[in-house]
Amino acid sequence: MCGIVGYIGSKDACPFLLSGLQRLEYRGYDSAGIATLRQSDNIRVTKVAGRVAELDAALQHKPMAGPLGIGHTRWATHGAATQDNAHPHLGGSAAVTLAHNGVIENYESLKSELVGKGYQFVSQTDSEVVAHLVAECLKEAQGDGAEPEVQHCVDAMQAAIARLRGTYGLVVMFREFPDLLIAARCGSPLVVGVGKQEQFVASDTSPLVGFTERIIYLADHQIAVIRPDNIQVLHRDHGRVRPDIQTLSSQSQDASLEGYEHYMLKEIYEQPQSIQNALRGRIDRDNATAKFGGLNLTTQQLRGIQRVILTGCGTSWHSALVGDYLIEELARIPVEVEYASELRYRNPPVDHDTVVFGITQSGETADTLAALREMKRKGHHTLAICNVIGSSIAQEADGGIYLHAGPEIGVASTKAFTSQLTVLSMLALYFGRLRHLSFEAGQRIITQLELLPQVVEQTLGCHKQVREIAAKYADASNFLYLGRKFNFPTALEGALKLKEISYIHAEGYPAAEMKHGPIALVDENTPSVFIVPQGTVYEKVLSNLQEVKARGGPVIAIVDHEDPQVTKLADDVIHIPEIEDFLQPIVASIPLQLLSYEIALLRGCDVDKPRNLAKSVTVE
Ligand code: G6P
Repeated sequence: MCGIVGYIGSKDACPFLLSGLQRLEYRGYDSAGIATLRQSDNIRVTKVAGRVAELDAALQHKPMAGPLGIGHTRWATHGAATQDNAHPHLGGSAAVTLAHNGVIENYESLKSELVGKGYQFVSQTDSEVVAHLVAECLKEAQGDGAEPEVQHCVDAMQAAIARLRGTYGLVVMFREFPDLLIAARCGSPLVVGVGKQEQFVASDTSPLVGFTERIIYLADHQIAVIRPDNIQVLHRDHGRVRPDIQTLSSQSQDASLEGYEHYMLKEIYEQPQSIQNALRGRIDRDNATAKFGGLNLTTQQLRGIQRVILTGCGTSWHSALVGDYLIEELARIPVEVEYASELRYRNPPVDHDTVVFGITQSGETADTLAALREMKRKGHHTLAICNVIGSSIAQEADGGIYLHAGPEIGVASTKAFTSQLTVLSMLALYFGRLRHLSFEAGQRIITQLELLPQVVEQTLGCHKQVREIAAKYADASNFLYLGRKFNFPTALEGALKLKEISYIHAEGYPAAEMKHGPIALVDENTPSVFIVPQGTVYEKVLSNLQEVKARGGPVIAIVDHEDPQVTKLADDVIHIPEIEDFLQPIVASIPLQLLSYEIALLRGCDVDKPRNLAKSVTVE
């Protein structure tokens, strides 16, 4: 949520800052800005209430030079998306310029204190408070008439952040020091890229690709004092620490559109490959099970697990719901699914043989991170099912499983969802085989898992038909999505995809539950999408479908075989290939993703950057 970039070196900062902001734009896109500084000059700032493309256009008219600079793309929390509220913010008559991610909880009391000291505010943001606070601390550090020194800036940063409550990732420039950049982190990720006579800062690794492969992930309570030829890392409690320079993973490769019109479409089409990547190296045919390298639990501990908690937000929470069915059915372990935002404030009675899985594409979602920390504090083993290597959750959990889905840029999650389900299916198999699940059952499950990439490839063949169906229903104001058992979460995810990117009101329900309320919404203008493949609940869902038809509601049905009964009843039928029921959510999600995509296009919506949303939600 919000993207930060910084550059210090011998070249012009602007090209890196702009390309970095373009790559970070998926984190927030309501306003953007950059600031640069060069020797014996003043800080220059350009900000727009709009997208990075508009910032780029503004810079064509007003180029900004300088080998030091910072940039920011915003997702508004405090104050509307206006030019004044856009970052970077100036503090103390422009002695300090900074960009901030996160939320400062005590900003109001700090603000009144600073106003009392004569500081004038031009924005409604909590971030401008930090800018003035650092300027005030700098004044105090310098004392009267002393020659300004770099150490004063470091002292000022440490003094200022000691007073902040909340979360921050900060990059700060000081007018008197055109060869100094300071970055500080608490709860909002920052990565420093190490170059030759130049250094980079960003809120994730994507801007660094192509600029450097050597990176330092800042930890909470660390600050980086960055000069063109050297980086010092200081920790609040431990003083100077040796920076751990890592190599940028090949998975962070540059994510380009590769000819697709949108990232979402590209990511939908990448699913045969991303599922293959999730499976790779994790199937153990000889023992009819799956294998994972990073759970960091002994076999004895794994056998002793009495309860599993699955937590996450948004689409990842839907994955958790499918995981519930999978683990209970294949491994017979009781599972609880909890919104991370609720789990973090609950105090559930949890015994010691419980493991907690945080499911997260980004590995940065604030609520998921906080819920895992809380569970860890209480002594439970925490595990991450995560896509982004080196992300905060991946680093803080006791162990975990990477998705290896590659960068997901479209704000609406697609390939990360199906990769999460693939991993959860393997996990359920693994737990099952440590308990009662037979060798034969394990083999059968593996055969189905191995078929997945090709089945998903085949499923993508429905795109043309889905496009035609989308054209029939694109003007609807409400949609219902209905399914049962494994496909109840599929229905929830289908509805979420539609509302996220087309802004149509959509509700997902367990099909039978529809009678207890949502059926009141059914009329000739409210399409219902039924997920009705063969399986133990087929007949039941069919009855629910009939109930909707009896009330004149249009029905789009997703089936996995030639189905005369459904074909007779439904207005539109989408065929998906057959697969065992526990993998149906993966396959049935494909037409639902495509349906949302096509409807959003027809309604002229910005598919990859839907209004008000952000890809990575790093605020509570
Ligand atoms: C945001 C995104 C969703 C995502 C959710 C959880 O709301 O827009 O697509 O499902 O965050 O994100 P995570 O990275 O933890 O999976």
